[in-house]
Amino acid sequence: MSSEIVIKTDQLTKRFGNLTAVDRVNFEVGKAEVFGLLGPNGAGKSTTIRMLTTLLTPSRGTAEVAGYDIIKNPEKVREKIGLVAEKVILYNRLTPFENLQFFGKLYGLEEKTIKERAERWVSRLHMNDWMHTMVMFFSTGMKQRINIARALLTEPEVLFLDEPTMGLDPQTTRAIRNFIKELKEHGVTVVLTTHDMFDAEMLCDRIAIMDHGKIIAVDTVENLKKLAPEKENPNLEDVYLFLTGEKIRDVPLSRPQTGNGRYHS
Ligand SMILES: Nc1ncnc2c1ncn2[C@@H]1O[C@H](COP(=O)(O)OP(=O)(O)OP(=O)(O)O)[C@@H](O)[C@H]1O
Ligand SMILES: [Mg+2]
Repeated sequence: MSSEIVIKTDQLTKRFGNLTAVDRVNFEVGKAEVFGLLGPNGAGKSTTIRMLTTLLTPSRGTAEVAGYDIIKNPEKVREKIGLVAEKVILYNRLTPFENLQFFGKLYGLEEKTIKERAERWVSRLHMNDWMHTMVMFFSTGMKQRINIARALLTEPEVLFLDEPTMGLDPQTTRAIRNFIKELKEHGVTVVLTTHDMFDAEMLCDRIAIMDHGKIIAVDTVENLKKLAPEKENPNLEDVYLFLTGEKIRDVPLSRPQTGNGRYHS
């Protein structure tokens, strides 16, 4: 980890009713580090990202992101970060060019700056030929690449990516992976969640494994592998399953937060 700390959480906690979705989480991320959040469905990865990106207020604890406290200075944090959430944030009836113009203006950027940045990101994501086609005609992978360009319009110091390669083909996945590596080389700090062990292993400098809202291990892939002693040459999946168990997690789609069992009838 580099010496400059860009993210530091302090007992970060989120409760929804009786459920503690994120439970006193502590970790640090260094500048230009690619930091992975792994964990079973419902582990609290997205909730952690939502707090760090100021979309949710912590129930307890706090964090510093790019030099600012997420509770005291949320608007300052927002100026420094980009977010690729689970849902693609684009207008289907607009072209990438129009989408990026729209979001750029929303982010307070000048037209000239937007145009210059949009062209740069779109070309690095191999989407130049599609700049003037309506987004509604795009595949999932094409939409996601424009969605990433959108998140980068403000040239954020920290980019949060929540399952950026979910449902994408190997070609797009590799392109996005390479792109994330390029961002790192340019000094961008990246926090990403994924269920793809290969992605995590190829990309992340360090990984935090979460389960039931808690971080149960955080280290480099190499060091994490030492935690699964019974296997000869464990891969990341072996370590992950060793730490989180092989039992399948049943996380209902609705949010059974009432605690009265009504959702189960
Ligand atoms: N707004 C909300 N209201 C109530 N409960 C919530 C809310 N958001 C998340 N939860 C619950 O908090 C827990 C953690 O959810 P979260 O989305 O952070 O998990 P995750 O690790 O991102 O899972 P996945 O891998 O499925 O994306 C889950 O039990 C979820 O149902
Ligand atoms: Mg999630």
